[in-house]
Amino acid sequence: MTFDLLVRNARLADGRTVDIGIAGDRITACERTIAAEAGETIDAAGSLVSPPFVDPHFHMDATLSFGQPRVNRSGTLLEGIELWGELKPLLTHEAVVDRALAYCDWAVSMGLLAIRSHVDTCDDRLLAVDALLEVREKVAPYIDLQLVAFPQDGFYRSATARDNTIRALDRGVDVVGGIPHFERTMADGRRSVTELCEIAADRGLPVDMHCDETDDPMSRHVEQLAFEAQRLGLQGRVAGSHLTSMHSMENYYVSKLLPLIAEAGVSAIPNPLINIVIQGRHDTYPKRRGMTRVPEMLDHGIRVGFGQDCVLDPWYSLGTADMLDVAFMGLHVAQMTSPHDMRRCFDMVTKESAAILGLEGYGLDVGCKANLVVLDAGDPIEAIRLRADRLFVVANGRIVARCARRDTALALPGRPARVDRRFKTPQTNDEENGA
Ligand code: FE2
Repeated sequence: MTFDLLVRNARLADGRTVDIGIAGDRITACERTIAAEAGETIDAAGSLVSPPFVDPHFHMDATLSFGQPRVNRSGTLLEGIELWGELKPLLTHEAVVDRALAYCDWAVSMGLLAIRSHVDTCDDRLLAVDALLEVREKVAPYIDLQLVAFPQDGFYRSATARDNTIRALDRGVDVVGGIPHFERTMADGRRSVTELCEIAADRGLPVDMHCDETDDPMSRHVEQLAFEAQRLGLQGRVAGSHLTSMHSMENYYVSKLLPLIAEAGVSAIPNPLINIVIQGRHDTYPKRRGMTRVPEMLDHGIRVGFGQDCVLDPWYSLGTADMLDVAFMGLHVAQMTSPHDMRRCFDMVTKESAAILGLEGYGLDVGCKANLVVLDAGDPIEAIRLRADRLFVVANGRIVARCARRDTALALPGRPARVDRRFKTPQTNDEENGA
């Protein structure tokens, strides 16, 4: 057997060390030792090799626009929407494409090879839609980019949003989005969920809706989303993004809601970096964290993927396309600090998000697409703790990014010459019990 690329001494998340053989754009062997030569060889030297990071929630039309035309002073979602509304008429096709491609470069360097991006459809020109459709094609050799038709200003609230959303889907946008909590009334929000799910069912498309992104405990559109998923037979194809109102809901109601979401096969996409900075802005003290109830959802068997949402845009003034930042923040906000839970946080920026996106051939098994990342860490927990460097990134069988191992020299009397930041997390009871 011959290979185009061999990744030797790859440590997998389950602790095994293997060689991974790649021919063309597929993994064709994964064994303890492969006795063969290859066109190119990577020696992972016992470092963690993972399938690529997956971002299930992003806004690529707004990314890298921070400061244009001004910054968000209140830090709220609503001022962010207002600011984006000021920027929208000033957008040009070229500028949106350039910013998006620059972001995709960052993503590749971070081993982030699959992104679901919402694209604003509340613009009669559909400028951002056309720009991101072009970007989707341009980056296809190395990034799986899914687009969601997102009526940012409200499917009913904005006069032409309904028509424009349908036009965007006609142009090839992949997923149906929505924003029920931004409609004029709760009733309109509910109706929008119903109609958007019906559009998705008619077209055979998935649904991914911004849902209840508010601190209002009475914002309960996710209940309708779960109902429609079940009524229309969309189980497994519907995601609710944010769901932050659930943080503030009454506990008894949540005890009824979570089983309904699980039963309807609706996935959840919290966005920890954004939820923690945007929610609770109207509180004095104590300030709510705003992120939805992640451990409780997992306990109910609801699929959860962490998303990035924003990088350097009207809603968020930082970001580097690093899904380990997202996992790190999610882990803290959800207080998921046991070794078992920290591993689950890694899964939420890799395989769980891949499952939400319905990615074909995701993983490191024979037959999977040859997409992987070599991290400067020994295991997933260490990867999160160090926000580990991506030593190599492979997309469709080709090395698309590499960086040198960080090597800090120390000059301390009686101490080693180099700093070693590695630390192996001990196996603990909670992992043995699956707790
Ligand atoms: Fe979003």
